[in-house]
Amino acid sequence: HSHRQADFPFLALLVSGGHCQMLLVEDIGRYSVIGGTIDDALGEAYDKVARMLGLPATNGGGPALERAALSGDKTKYPLPVPMQQRPDCDFSYAGLKTSVRTAITKLRRQLGDDYADSEDPRPLPEQVVSDLAASFQESAIKHLEQRLRRALKRIKASGKEPISQIVLAGGVAANKELRRRMEALCEKEGLELVVPNPKLCTDNGVMIAWAAIERLQRGQICSHDGQEVQARVPLGPAIDLPSK
Ligand code: KG4
Repeated sequence: HSHRQADFPFLALLVSGGHCQMLLVEDIGRYSVIGGTIDDALGEAYDKVARMLGLPATNGGGPALERAALSGDKTKYPLPVPMQQRPDCDFSYAGLKTSVRTAITKLRRQLGDDYADSEDPRPLPEQVVSDLAASFQESAIKHLEQRLRRALKRIKASGKEPISQIVLAGGVAANKELRRRMEALCEKEGLELVVPNPKLCTDNGVMIAWAAIERLQRGQICSHDGQEVQARVPLGPAIDLPSK
């Protein structure tokens, strides 16, 4: 799956430490933002929840949280799927993060004084950490699935050129459970999933170099004079895909 070519137009789901966006990609440099996060990016939520659970933060907290979730029961502490009442294509992860914090506080109280000590609390039992990690991941991915399905429906109804691929990208795209779920969603929708090799998902140097190669091959060269460096340049204009 990792060697497939992405063909325009496609729907990109960008999930990284700084971004959580759905983009309609019509060509190199022609991106429309279908939805974005109104608070935390998905990677940021993984990092913050990992920290709350006392997990190590190598390459952010995502990899450790994913590993913990493997032995967890995702139904043990059901956490609300974000923004179910909002009929748009935007994301939000701050509320889910707060739900995890509330669940941890409650569990610590139930576990007893050692665990609830405000100065030097005992680390949560390993199984509790795993169950919370799995529950967080479940709601986080469900949110992505809901938004993706909605965007696909709206693209179809919009009269725009149909897409045949979803491209999953950004650091969180290294997550195996997410890859599996996106693969299943694409299969159901009759679409192809294009996703980089996990090792390359967190390699920002490769991403930038590749973007440069694509542009150079088209002869898109610009002088570095007068270029400004910005940390978060908007990728494209926001478009509203109406529901009918
Ligand atoms: O795209 P990226 O490498 O860089 C920035 O956005 O800066 O994304 C980094 C993010 C971090 O939040 C990290 O926790 C997350 O990607 N990440 C993961 C996994 N690997 C990296 N999240 C979940 N599961 C993973 N396996």
